[in-house]
Amino acid sequence: MGEAARIVVDPGEFAGAAAAWIAEAINHAVAAQGSCALALAGGSTPQPVYRALARPPYDQAVVWERVRVYFGDERAVPPDSPDSNFGTARESLLRHLAIPEKQIFRMEAERADREVAAAEYARLLPQRLDLLILGMGPDGHTASLFPGSPALDEKERRVVTVIGPKPPAARLTITPPTIAAAEQTVVLVTGGDKAATVERVLRGPFAPKDLPVQLARSGTWILDKAAAGLAE
Ligand code: 6PG
Repeated sequence: MGEAARIVVDPGEFAGAAAAWIAEAINHAVAAQGSCALALAGGSTPQPVYRALARPPYDQAVVWERVRVYFGDERAVPPDSPDSNFGTARESLLRHLAIPEKQIFRMEAERADREVAAAEYARLLPQRLDLLILGMGPDGHTASLFPGSPALDEKERRVVTVIGPKPPAARLTITPPTIAAAEQTVVLVTGGDKAATVERVLRGPFAPKDLPVQLARSGTWILDKAAAGLAE
């Protein structure tokens, strides 16, 4: 595992700094290959970042028409539910941008047969995401890969169903091979309540079965000072 790249910013600068980093990474992928396969994280932490990306300068400075949008996980709720990762991202980010509808791929986790939904989503995911955005729970989970979950042993399938401890419990999630294959991964973390976990994840022994977000340990971590354990 390589040393994580860490970017630590003042809490008030978190959204702007993360948006700038993500915008540059997307534009880099578009410049290199003509498109960018981007996977969004759920949870509350990325929402201010998404709102920043939806506003000037990033609403125009990114070639959004060339971006294909995927999700790292989804809860088994309809897209209009406030718990839907897609629905939340649509409001904070997607509906403000010029991304063609057919380039937005939500996980249909509310379907009666989630196994089929997982298999179908795995087929439409590209072999390699260009940019994977992840969050981290205080227990070290990421996407819907929770500590101790059998999904962490998955070696082949790229999307699986899980029942997690965080409500809504029934979910779809990407798996370790999908995270490993991503060209770039960025983990967004804020708040002093996550500082001790950040420390264990970045400096402790590599044990992703206990701390799943360690699967992204060699990615870029954007932290506010509180999450980085730095006193204000
Ligand atoms: C989800 C997420 C999850 C999230 C973390 C952090 O759907 O629940 O994708 O992995 O990123 O739980 O959530 P917060 O940013 O709300 O703390």
